[in-house]
This record gives sequence, structure tokens and C-alpha cells, in this order.
Amino acid sequence: MSAPRSHYMREIFVSHLQDASYLPQTTSYVALEEQARKKLTPEAYGYVAGSASSENTNKSNMDAMQDWQIVPRMLAGVDLDNFDMSTTLFGRKFATPFVISPIGVQGQLHVDSDRATARAACKVGVPFTLSSATSTPLEVVAQEGGFAKAREEAEGCDGEVSGAEPWFQLYWPSDDDITRSLLDRAKKSGYKVLVVTLDTWSLGWRPRDLDIAYNPFLKGNGLANLFCDPVFVEKYCEGKSPLRKDTTEDDVFQAALACISLLSPGNSRSWADLPLLRELWGASADGHKIVLKGIQSVTDAARAIEAGADGIWVSNHGGRQVDGALGSLSALAPIARYVRSSGCALTRGGERPTLIFDSGVRTGADAMKALCLGADAVGIGRPYAYALALGGEQGVECLLKAMLADLELNTALAGCRGVKEMGSHLLVRRGEESKL
Ligand code: GLV
Repeated sequence: MSAPRSHYMREIFVSHLQDASYLPQTTSYVALEEQARKKLTPEAYGYVAGSASSENTNKSNMDAMQDWQIVPRMLAGVDLDNFDMSTTLFGRKFATPFVISPIGVQGQLHVDSDRATARAACKVGVPFTLSSATSTPLEVVAQEGGFAKAREEAEGCDGEVSGAEPWFQLYWPSDDDITRSLLDRAKKSGYKVLVVTLDTWSLGWRPRDLDIAYNPFLKGNGLANLFCDPVFVEKYCEGKSPLRKDTTEDDVFQAALACISLLSPGNSRSWADLPLLRELWGASADGHKIVLKGIQSVTDAARAIEAGADGIWVSNHGGRQVDGALGSLSALAPIARYVRSSGCALTRGGERPTLIFDSGVRTGADAMKALCLGADAVGIGRPYAYALALGGEQGVECLLKAMLADLELNTALAGCRGVKEMGSHLLVRRGEESKL
């Protein structure tokens, strides 16, 4: 059994005792965002921090977190040394219940971009979801993330579980040849789970970007996956890669426009299209898992499973797409009840559908609330983007260690011995305290 994640607290204090100049990366989300804001260009900071229109959906995500309160239990026989942080996703055991949510254009945050995030996630044992809108080609991230070595090491240690694996997020291209090519490349490079984002067939209305007319994609940023895709180059660039040395600004601009109209075409797919994706990615029973990201209603969750999804990712894209929407945590509990009910079909792999949650997770307590309300894993988004901006790979590693320590300590202090024991019995809704 590995050391408790909460030992990170001891590491911080002892390191400072041994070397008074040592101070950790801030462990406060508010300070993390503020420090990143000062370091980043206003454009890059605004891009990450911004949400749709009034930004009320982002606020609702935070408010939904405060709507639930943890009810600590005492004398529960809890032991940090034996705290069980593991969870089950897609029928497999993972060491922690965290996942890196996809974030595009990481090159505007740090020169090492997605590679740094991937390496940190791999080191800590958290699945890393690479955005379609990556700053680095998917092959390079898979290779430099260190996942192959982590897999070999895990295979060498009997019974040890990890989560060090890459997942691939898809902005579903409007051209099936491009989809096929991207998915073939992702499979070949060892990506395990396909995360299909459903809510971004057009970018949302984002005043922070609009008011300074900032769109990184138009300059070719965040398009590395398509710019090096052989099918894209052949079909949309007359065979001339926009990455070649003698490329002109106009070549890049034209290629960027083509990418935008493929990845963000302005018309959504429909449920009838899902079997094609299932066919292109491969069968669930062969270990090729598909999770649909952006689900906010029980009706859509049911349709997703009927259509052959292996999992549901409850998310409203950090409030970046639909303004005035419900907080994502408010959508989670009914969907979790459905997924665990006898009315919910098993996946085609014969498992209960996996449930992942994101949008609004900033602290261990936030993650704990989502796990108590039925998530099998929780996605981290903006916090790691700010940590990447501050410290590259090491920044993201510190952030993940801090989130894990916070989750473990908070849950244990509330009287719970592990992730699998978490449930709604540990929560009370604000205003319903008299029911306690
Ligand atoms: C794209 O994923 C975005 O939210 O900007």
C-alpha cells in the first residue's frame, strides 16, 4: 500500500524545517488563481477564467457546492494509513478518484503545455485527458507523458493499481474521415478512454474573449492534432502541412479556419450518430471505452447508455457554454440515482455505467461532495490550468498532491474510511438541517 496522500502535509512542514527557504506552491485555490492571473497574459488568463455571457453558470457551479454540507461523524475507527482512495472506473480499479479534465490551448499557459500536465498526472497516478484542441500532437503527449513506463512498472508490482493512463477528448469533427484518422492515431498511441464532448459544437458566448477579440485558434494555437493529421493535410491543405518551415501566416489562417469549421461546425450531432463513433473507436468489450461529456439531465443519461456509452461525464464545461444553466452538482444526484437504479441498463461491456463529474471542483471538500452524491471520479479543470501556468509540470504535480491530500484528510476527519464508503448519508442540504 502506498503512503497516505495526506503525508503531503508532513512533507510541506518538514521540508520547511529542513530548509527555511522552502515554501510550497500555494494550497489555496483563490491564491493560485490570483498568482496565475498576475503571471499570464490578460488574454490567456481571460480565456481560462471566462465563462458564458453573465458567467452565472460558473457561479451556479460554486453555489451548488455550497448547497450541500458535510456532516462529520466521530469515533468512526478511521486510520489515515489504511484510507482507501481507490475507485472503479469502466470495471477497472484506479488508485484515486481524480481525473484531469480536458483543457485546450495549454501552450498559452506554459511552454511545456500538455506534455507537462501529462507528465505530472502520470507521476501522481491520475488519468490525463488530452483535449482535441491540444498544443502538442497526441502522439508526442502520449510518448512524453511517461505512460508506457508507468504501465510497465505497474505490471511489475503485483496488485498495485495506478491511474497513469492517457484518455482522449474528442470535439467530434464534422468530417468522418477526420474523425476516423484522429481515433486511429489515438488508439495506436495508447489512449484508453474516448471522452466525447457534446456541448461545444460551437464556442459559447464569452465576453472576456469577445471584448478583446481573442481567439487563439485563428492563429493556429491549439490545433496541433489536426495540423499534423495526414488526412486533414491532404483534404484541407492541398497536401501542404501548415507546420512546414516555409508556411505563411495566410496558410496557417486558412488551415485554422478549416479546423474550426471541422471541430466547432455550428451544428450539433444527434443520437443517431453515436453508433458510428462506437464503430470507429472499437467495442467496449475489447476495452475501448466511450464516455459522453456534457450530460446534465437524466433523459440524456438514459439515451447515452441506450446508445452504447460506457460512461457519463456530468459537466457543463465549467460554465463556459450555456449561460443561466443549473450548477453541475445539482444535475449529478438525479443522474447518479438513475445510473444505480434497476431501470438503468448495463453497458455493452456488462458493467454499471461509469459516472464522472466536473465543473466547480476547487477543493477536497468539493470532490468529496461529488463522490458522496454518486460520482465514481471527479474531474479537475481550472485549478490545474493555473498550477501549470505557475510551475509547469511541478506546479501540476503539487496541485494534484494537494487535492489528494485535502480530499483524504477531509473525508477521514469527517469519519469516512475511503472513497467507497462515501454516500449521501454524509451530507445535508442547506436549509434541511432539521432533518438530521
Ligand atoms: C474549449 O474547450 C473551451 O472551453 O474553450
